[in-house]
Amino acid sequence: MNQDYSKFGEKFTRYSGITQLMDDLGKANHSDDENIIMLGGGNPALIPEAHDIFVSELKALIDNNEVDQMLSRYDGPKGSEVFVRVLVEMLNTNYDWHLDEGNVAITNGSQSSFFSLFNLFAGEMPDGSKRKVLLPIAPEYIGYADQGLSADMFVSVKPKIHELDDQQFKYQIDFDKLEQTLKQEDIGIICISRPTNPTGNVITDDELAQLDNIAQANNIPLIVDNAYGQPFPGAIYTDATLSWNDNTILCLSLSKLGLPGVRTGIVIANHATIEAMSRVSGILTLAPSSVGPALVTRLVKSQEIMRLANDVIKPFYQNKATIAQQIFYDVFGGTSAKLHKLEGAFFMWIWFPDLKMTSEELYQQLKAKGVYIIPGHNFFIGMDNTWPHQHQCIRINYAKDETTLRKGLEVIYNEVSL
Ligand SMILES: Cc1ncc(COP(=O)(O)O)c(C=O)c1O
Repeated sequence: MNQDYSKFGEKFTRYSGITQLMDDLGKANHSDDENIIMLGGGNPALIPEAHDIFVSELKALIDNNEVDQMLSRYDGPKGSEVFVRVLVEMLNTNYDWHLDEGNVAITNGSQSSFFSLFNLFAGEMPDGSKRKVLLPIAPEYIGYADQGLSADMFVSVKPKIHELDDQQFKYQIDFDKLEQTLKQEDIGIICISRPTNPTGNVITDDELAQLDNIAQANNIPLIVDNAYGQPFPGAIYTDATLSWNDNTILCLSLSKLGLPGVRTGIVIANHATIEAMSRVSGILTLAPSSVGPALVTRLVKSQEIMRLANDVIKPFYQNKATIAQQIFYDVFGGTSAKLHKLEGAFFMWIWFPDLKMTSEELYQQLKAKGVYIIPGHNFFIGMDNTWPHQHQCIRINYAKDETTLRKGLEVIYNEVSL
């Protein structure tokens, strides 16, 4: 590319490691090679029962002549008013938050919610100072990494590693380090995914409450990214309470419910933040897509979406988690490999403390054998590269059939030769 681009152009056209990785995964996904074992990517599983419900909702919209709302009219910049109304009703029925319609904005997927939110609160401020996005725990969702309009917009906190029985471990937020970081850096917004992609970690209610207190004491908004969490798709296997207050920005999405193609994100925040999101959205997109909201409005109004999450989606992924854990023990039992406690989402995060190569080298070797995983170093956003642990982990999507997962783990076992 020999064109003169702006700073924006240079930043957003950079061929980053993760772009290369996504290219690899895309090619592998579209390859005819039946021997490819795809354990990378973040695609949700196609759950037949959920899929049938979405298709029948679509048919009902067509049969009842309601499809025009979905296809032929712009919504306002904040998204479908009807959908926002029923969502507010549903949330107020289930949680004691007292929301009104000014607390909710629809976007074209969480990814675009983060772009607006990060760049509203961090980056270059009107007085020339620079603020950062603070990620309280690393590893964190790779999709945050390159979203800043300014350079160096992220800082993350190295976690504590809590070693558990049965070759398991769990990351915990290091609150002392977090407080130090808050003193050293000018932070504009804090963001955490719950469950966390890539680890399947679910920070506890106590950790979240502590984070919330710190955020409020420092007057910094706290984003809680619930893409895999409550109220939908509900892929959380520990006791975790969904909370919200005026300083919290909850980001929800229809993607992991099984609708990544409709690109619908939902932001729940105080009025000023929602108004700001709406103005940004008007400039960037005129209006968010109407497809997702129209498709699920009836499900939200009747609260069937909660039953779908609790009775179909969650048990589906929880069962996959149980199987994945068993396969991990079958393949890696008795070795030094460790599994992050599977508390939510649909990823296995495996740590090889004795790995004799970097996770990137392991990725390349596995790719040559047709097995695709995500090397872990990509998820340590906003921290320097000096912690060996960063190069000893891999992420695996276990929303697969059992045979594929087992075969993939066996190839990995042979490659890491523990
Ligand atoms: C933690 C997390 N948040 C957000 C997203 C993005 O979701 P969306 O499809 O709504 O943009 C993903 C996608 O994989 C994710 O893993």
